[in-house]
Amino acid sequence: MRVLSVVGARPQFVKLAPVDAAFRAAGIDHRIVHTGQHYDPMLSDVFFTDLGIASPDVHLGVGSGTHGRQTGAMLAAMDEAIESHRPDWVLVYGDTNSTLAGALSAVKLHVPVAHLEAGLRSFNRSMPEEVNRVVTDHAADLLLTPTAVGADHLAAEGLAERTVVVGDVMTDVLLQVRDRVADAPSPVMTRLGLEEGGYSLATIHRAENTDDPERLASVLDSLASVDHPVVLLAHPRLAARCAAHGLDLPVQGVRGSLLVHPPLAYPDLIASALHARGAVTDSGGLQKEAFLLRVPCTTVRPQTEWVETVELGWNVLVEPGPDLVAAASRPRPAEPLPDQAHPYGDGHAAQRVVEALLERA
Ligand code: UD1
Repeated sequence: MRVLSVVGARPQFVKLAPVDAAFRAAGIDHRIVHTGQHYDPMLSDVFFTDLGIASPDVHLGVGSGTHGRQTGAMLAAMDEAIESHRPDWVLVYGDTNSTLAGALSAVKLHVPVAHLEAGLRSFNRSMPEEVNRVVTDHAADLLLTPTAVGADHLAAEGLAERTVVVGDVMTDVLLQVRDRVADAPSPVMTRLGLEEGGYSLATIHRAENTDDPERLASVLDSLASVDHPVVLLAHPRLAARCAAHGLDLPVQGVRGSLLVHPPLAYPDLIASALHARGAVTDSGGLQKEAFLLRVPCTTVRPQTEWVETVELGWNVLVEPGPDLVAAASRPRPAEPLPDQAHPYGDGHAAQRVVEALLERA
């Protein structure tokens, strides 16, 4: 069996890591297409190096652009990649423009497509990621969903027959890396002189928070008003939008409680989260990582796809402003009951991905 994985953005490299390892362990011919959606070394290369992922077989070099231009450039280039590698399966990950392009290109060439992280929904159609998820799920032949909630969403859309619950591959990699860095110091504590459990870790990059200047200003003001240090790991999109909107983002500087720091490599992020008192974010990945590390999370969004984190009391959804400031210093919630403690699987989701593809090859 030959599988062609299509990835392009930071969270996809994290998901790819355990899947690539599981394919190699099973002796499967796994090839990787990198669309080039993310190209900064700290958003791309460090993940391949740190997580031991094989180098991409194809690099499309598409880069940034409007949704149409970026997705269109990927689509045009994908056809050739699929035709020259002739896979039995094309595997797409998550909800980015790279996911959509990989799925559309494969389905039109009549190559079976599997969607990993299928079935997640925010039910907010103004998010580009929501459109990407829905279209990809309906185009794909096999829907590999992380949770029972994801399977329910797919069933409600008439897609139950194509659905397999495999668990969450980000949990696989998180548990491995957590054990690797458990005794390592927190890079942000060391670099910024912070105390154990005395800081929050923040990431903000979603279009819904960065593209409206007033909303972005309010997010930054709120982070600067929290009653303890907040380390904001500045994604390039955040830095670009702050510059465009004329907002003060003190790169590697301080503003109130806000300390700005460049993005971290994955093991450094996990080590820094392990020693934090909280996370403030609009990232799907960090919401779940915080939950798995039992760090209270404050999510700056009206909805989340990872509803279990909220239901179990470890994540709260807030608007920027006083609610964000208050939520960031709330006390730790109770530990989940043992039968509710593992909604994202047992850390062996990638193995089930391999089995699901092999059974249907
Ligand atoms: C993309 C995904 C988002 C995911 C995020 C993870 C879509 C629609 N969005 O958002 O779901 O959560 O990745 O990071 O696919 N830029 C750089 N260097 C890079 C990449 C981007 O400077 O290597 C800057 C550019 O100004 C670019 C902007 O970030 O225009 C946005 O990048 P893009 O890849 O289009 O989307 P993300 O915001 O990263």
